[in-house]
Amino acid sequence: MAKKVQLTETILRDAHQSQAATRMRIDEMLPVASKLDEVGYYSIECWGGATFDSCLRFLNEDPWERLRKLRKAMPKTKLQMLLRGQNILGYKHYADDVVEEFVKKSIQNGINVIRIFDALNDTRNMKACIDAILKYKNEDKSGLGVVCEATLCYTVSEVHTREYFVNLAKELEGMGADVICLKDMANLLLPYETYELVKALKQAVKCPIHLHTHNTSGTGNMIYLKAIEAGVDIVDTALSPMGNGTSQPATEPLIATLQGTEYDTGLDLSYVTEIAEHFKGVAERLTKDGYLNKKALQTDVKGLIYQVPGGMLSNLMNQLKEANAMDKYDEVLAEVPKVRADLGYPPLVTPSSQIVGSQAVLNVLSGERYKMVTKEVKGIVRGEYGKLPVEIKADLVKKIIGDEPRITCRPADNIKPELEKYREEIKEYIEQEEDVLSYALFPQVALKFFKYRQANKMNLDSEIGDVATKIQPV
Ligand code: CO
Repeated sequence: MAKKVQLTETILRDAHQSQAATRMRIDEMLPVASKLDEVGYYSIECWGGATFDSCLRFLNEDPWERLRKLRKAMPKTKLQMLLRGQNILGYKHYADDVVEEFVKKSIQNGINVIRIFDALNDTRNMKACIDAILKYKNEDKSGLGVVCEATLCYTVSEVHTREYFVNLAKELEGMGADVICLKDMANLLLPYETYELVKALKQAVKCPIHLHTHNTSGTGNMIYLKAIEAGVDIVDTALSPMGNGTSQPATEPLIATLQGTEYDTGLDLSYVTEIAEHFKGVAERLTKDGYLNKKALQTDVKGLIYQVPGGMLSNLMNQLKEANAMDKYDEVLAEVPKVRADLGYPPLVTPSSQIVGSQAVLNVLSGERYKMVTKEVKGIVRGEYGKLPVEIKADLVKKIIGDEPRITCRPADNIKPELEKYREEIKEYIEQEEDVLSYALFPQVALKFFKYRQANKMNLDSEIGDVATKIQPV
């Protein structure tokens, strides 16, 4: 049966998040936005993930304004975002009222495809998002519709079997998902397993299957090809100047591979190549400014062993560079899977990837495991992030949190509505309703940005604009 494969272009989000610390600016996107809009992609991923934080923290851009500009420049293509479930775009659980408002504002400002995941695959942490998407679908002004895309975070462990993912997909479909995403953020899938898993998912659910991987360990293209043969509906690729390595497999080779076959994407290869020319310049700028590191482009088979996602690899490198401890890179990579096993095999994806990564760095640099423990690791042990795939050993629980109580309910059940509190706290800076959400997610960073914005408007000299370049968690 002939089946056209569709592509999601990630160059405006995951590609630069995974290769260049999320530093692509809106002025580097807009010159080719109208061309991107003509390609015929299923969607263009351009928002969410770490872009929101990066806009406020490093680029002095209002992330909401960025979204509106992209929406205006690309009226024909579905715009996609990545949403960390109850964590929204931050690193902790938010109250349901903040989640609901965030989803509503994302849709109103132009997002069509909302890809939701929970780092632990705890569906309770995705429910408020899914419900909010279903509730606000009709707020879409683009005419392109709203798609609720719920995610299976792929990982490997004794509990993460094919059956586990199939059951999870069924549950998410039952909760109202329109599309199921199989998210292989650490490039751990292997081509033949992909074939079996995609087949099983296609048999189990009616929703289209959308596959996301990285090419960190060099298997990305083969994964896509086997997935396509197994009937996958949509795959994520990045234009070649920022494709491959820790990013997605490149867009152009896949278009060429499928051309003339029953899976033909129907996309125009030479037209896409013209757009890629623009991003060559952007990649050069990011390299010149020190964000794009050649190491992120090399095939690194360590990923298959250490199970470290793309964004996390470049982040660990940056952390160690700052600590002048690049010589500890291999040691830290070896520590990551040990910390992960200790913490009950969470899949490694934001924020769990950051939490496990930072703890691995601490374990190595301090010379004694769990001598120092981050507050996030304590939170995981207390149950604040949700249910872990495997229970943590009692002696480690004791070492990390002593006799503190642990919770078993949905973590957000313990959080009272907080939107009004945030609104009150920054009322003097509010220029748009969305500011309350920026502040809720990144209080200090947003406040600094609001002050910068205000100073700029009043034509005051502001040193706040000179935000020092720091390592940013993705
Ligand atoms: Co990714």
